[in-house]
Amino acid sequence: MIILIITTGSKFILIKKIKNISIASQYKWSLIRMDFKKDKTPILYMAPMAGVTDRAFRRLCLECGAKIVVTEMVSAKAVQYGDKKSYELGKLFESDQPAIIQIFGSDPIAMAFAAKEMTAFNPIAIDINMGCPVPKVSGSGDGASLMKNPRLAGEIINAVVSAIDVPVTVKIRSGWDSKNINAVEIALIAEANGAAVVTVHGRTKVQGYEGYADRNVIKEVKQTLKIPVIANGDIVDGASAIDMLEKTDCDGLMVGRGALGSPWVFTEIKAVLENKPYIPYSPGQKREMILRQLDMMVIDKGEQLALLEIRKHIAWYIKGIPNAASIRASVFLTHTKEKLIEIIKNIDFL
Ligand SMILES: Cc1cc2nc3c(=O)[nH]c(=O)nc-3n(C[C@H](O)[C@H](O)[C@H](O)COP(=O)(O)O)c2cc1C
Repeated sequence: MIILIITTGSKFILIKKIKNISIASQYKWSLIRMDFKKDKTPILYMAPMAGVTDRAFRRLCLECGAKIVVTEMVSAKAVQYGDKKSYELGKLFESDQPAIIQIFGSDPIAMAFAAKEMTAFNPIAIDINMGCPVPKVSGSGDGASLMKNPRLAGEIINAVVSAIDVPVTVKIRSGWDSKNINAVEIALIAEANGAAVVTVHGRTKVQGYEGYADRNVIKEVKQTLKIPVIANGDIVDGASAIDMLEKTDCDGLMVGRGALGSPWVFTEIKAVLENKPYIPYSPGQKREMILRQLDMMVIDKGEQLALLEIRKHIAWYIKGIPNAASIRASVFLTHTKEKLIEIIKNIDFL
């Protein structure tokens, strides 16, 4: 490989480039495999959430203490068709790192193609979605449907691992339904096909987001695999993070809904995991953070889309505070950034 590249251009520059690539690649592998994790502090992941974990929100979560963030899911088929919006979803900037790009689909060729395309954005890993329960996704054989099709799941993981030289991670559920709990089977297939990490959301597809995530199935996966296992489901604060850790002995923790309207949950969890004091964010710091999120969204998506998309975030931020209903109503009626800034500056966090 070195000879091939040297003959196509300037010797020194290209040798340097190869070295850079290999150092970057080593970093990705060691971060994902947690080679540095000698002190047993679990890695804190921000979960992929479609319609939520855009670049602005991912940046806030990283600043608040998430170690690794995951993009919204990107359709492999759409990437194959050259869909610009899908490329946009996967796009990463330096300030978004370390980030994983998640892809979904059920055609090994499309998945391998999409994974390859997405590596151009320099993610630390490509994640394969095997957990999405949404009918539009699982109804087409994608997402959680793959839990029902272990052979195809293996083929997809194999195709993606073979296509790229960055780590491949796989996110699964406990199973399809309570009669078909097969997380261990699918996780073993993932490991055998070269996955670097498996994340287990301790609910079945049929459960969706209802009920409590099963810690036992996550523990079973952890006890069976040699590669790191990330635990996911109902981690919403320091206490639930410790509970998950104690019950599963997992290598990492992934937080989803607990971060909606409170990216600072990562600060709390990180402090608890590191046995350090946690100083809650002041109302002023919270308002500042929302204003920065708005700014980043406007720069990234344009004012019109940003104003629309931040509405749901603000609704989550103000949940439970006095006057939440009237603030929400005025946010939904606001069509200018200036007016929205005024509203945010007046949010009366407790
Ligand atoms: C709004 C929303 C969007 C989600 N989108 C994705 C997604 O794109 N890919 C994925 O693997 N999981 C997705 N999930 C599932 C979460 O990543 C996570 O597995 C689940 O919410 C359980 O974790 P939690 O209890 O911490 O929320 C989504 C969840 C929510 C609430």
